[in-house]
Amino acid sequence: MQTAFIGGGHMASALLGGALADGAPRERFIVAEPLAAQRERLQREFAVRVVERSSEAVADADVLVLAVKPQQMGAVARELEPVIGNRRRLLVSVAAGLRCADLARAFGPLHAIVRSMPNRPALIGAGITALYAGPDVDAAERAQAEAILRACGDTVWLTDERQMDAVTAVSGSGPAYFFLVIEALEAAGIAEGLAPEVARRLAIATAHGAGLLAQQGSGTPAELRESVTSRGGTTAAALAVLEGGGLRTMFARAVAAATRRSTELGDELAGR
Ligand SMILES: NC(=O)c1ccc[n+]([C@@H]2O[C@H](COP(=O)([O-])OP(=O)(O)OC[C@H]3O[C@@H](n4cnc5c(N)ncnc54)[C@H](OP(=O)(O)O)[C@@H]3O)[C@@H](O)[C@H]2O)c1
Repeated sequence: MQTAFIGGGHMASALLGGALADGAPRERFIVAEPLAAQRERLQREFAVRVVERSSEAVADADVLVLAVKPQQMGAVARELEPVIGNRRRLLVSVAAGLRCADLARAFGPLHAIVRSMPNRPALIGAGITALYAGPDVDAAERAQAEAILRACGDTVWLTDERQMDAVTAVSGSGPAYFFLVIEALEAAGIAEGLAPEVARRLAIATAHGAGLLAQQGSGTPAELRESVTSRGGTTAAALAVLEGGGLRTMFARAVAAATRRSTELGDELAGR
């Protein structure tokens, strides 16, 4: 399967680097990237074919990974639509907010379109990506799309494209919520007398360790929380403050606000 990356920025580099590290042959890939400095970097880092214009990259490509900014997608489609119209390709978009129907309208109805929403930790192989494919995308095409995103971490399929807005609010924007928690925990540690670098290391390592434990699945997050909370102890004292201060309600409101904003941005991109 020849795969063309359209756009050679952060996300394309992460996906390409992951695929090569997993043993995919580099001859399978070509990257279209307009910036000369980026092209040089891609060549140096990955030793794959790199071209300037996206129309030069797609003639033999069965799979196109659309890794440009959402605002750049219209120009990419205008350039590619006449070139790829001769046969069906698998188009995998990582662009936030662009819906399958809008991509089909821009690139033509012949193609298999899979929309995905990765998140920032994907850049270090620790991401989670939600994927959505319309009913005309077959199992083999879904598997190909999933394999591309698996190079950057975990994947999950959605059955309803509208859920992408909630995904954007939970895992897309989510890293920022955890950075905020780390910042707050660090500041609180400093306020209790810890040296700043010690407080930061404690906060980051604790977030990392808690995430790993939760991921191992030896209990639900609630069970894990209960297992580290003795009645009348220090953790219970802290959790009483967080629960009493309305942390859960705050998260519900924050995620609802992000979901609404994601829908609005999708509407703006679609010109509605
Ligand atoms: N990075 C993340 O954490 C993240 C997370 C989730 C989703 N995403 C999505 O992933 C997409 C890519 O994000 P990114 O962070 O990788 O952005 P990026 O680093 O800016 O990469 C996009 C690249 O595409 C290039 N490009 C622009 N027009 C092109 C064209 N016509 N043909 C070929 N290449 C073209 C850009 O070149 P110029 O610099 O010259 O414009 C840039 O190098 C975005 O749609 C974003 O929503 C990113």
